[in-house]
Amino acid sequence: MSRILITSGPTRQYLDPVRYISNGSSGRMGCALGQAAIDAGHDVVIVSGPVNIEYPQTAEVIPVVSTEEMLEACLGVWNDCDGMIGVAAPCDYRPVDVAKGKITKTGDSLSIKLIETPDIVAGLAEVKTSQWIVAFALETGDRHLRAMQKLERKKCDLIVLNGPEAMFASKTRVEVLNRDGQVLADIEGDKPQVAVKVFDVISQQLIR
Ligand code: C5P
Repeated sequence: MSRILITSGPTRQYLDPVRYISNGSSGRMGCALGQAAIDAGHDVVIVSGPVNIEYPQTAEVIPVVSTEEMLEACLGVWNDCDGMIGVAAPCDYRPVDVAKGKITKTGDSLSIKLIETPDIVAGLAEVKTSQWIVAFALETGDRHLRAMQKLERKKCDLIVLNGPEAMFASKTRVEVLNRDGQVLADIEGDKPQVAVKVFDVISQQLIR
């Protein structure tokens, strides 16, 4: 039995007390993968941004809001985990300045300077010992090339490639690529069915 960390859902970066930027993500795929891992007999800890779904009852769920909080929560459990699946859509930018009060409309345009937030998968890869890492990548254009660049940059063992049509959808189509760029699986269906098959590949390739 392994202990598996799953990042799930979007994160939010506030620019004032009520407004934020975020990414599109329902948390459904993270939830489905958590269930698949539990059904396969593993312990699951899900670090999740704000979502409207029920995660499996037997999963440990750590709710977070921002990308920085997600990284901190993940680092807190990483040593006790055997591997991680990055399914979250963390917001990659945050406003440089966060207003204390609600920004009032003036009739003028408003410029917001953004800087990058930390990359959670890459951050965990930096401090990993023997843990395995699987990331999801949502790509358009030259999808395989981009996915492989992400796999390298984030030091992943496998990368699961999907397209923008997966966002908020109940169905999805994914390809699982290994470090050699081989497509190990091409899976289509409801997210729970896809999750089971993706988890099968992870089990065969990475879990002893
Ligand atoms: O956003 P991007 O396409 O780079 O996401 C690819 C993978 O990296 C996903 O698994 C996502 O969860 C992860 N990621 C992350 N931290 C970020 C951005 C993405 O862990 N700040």
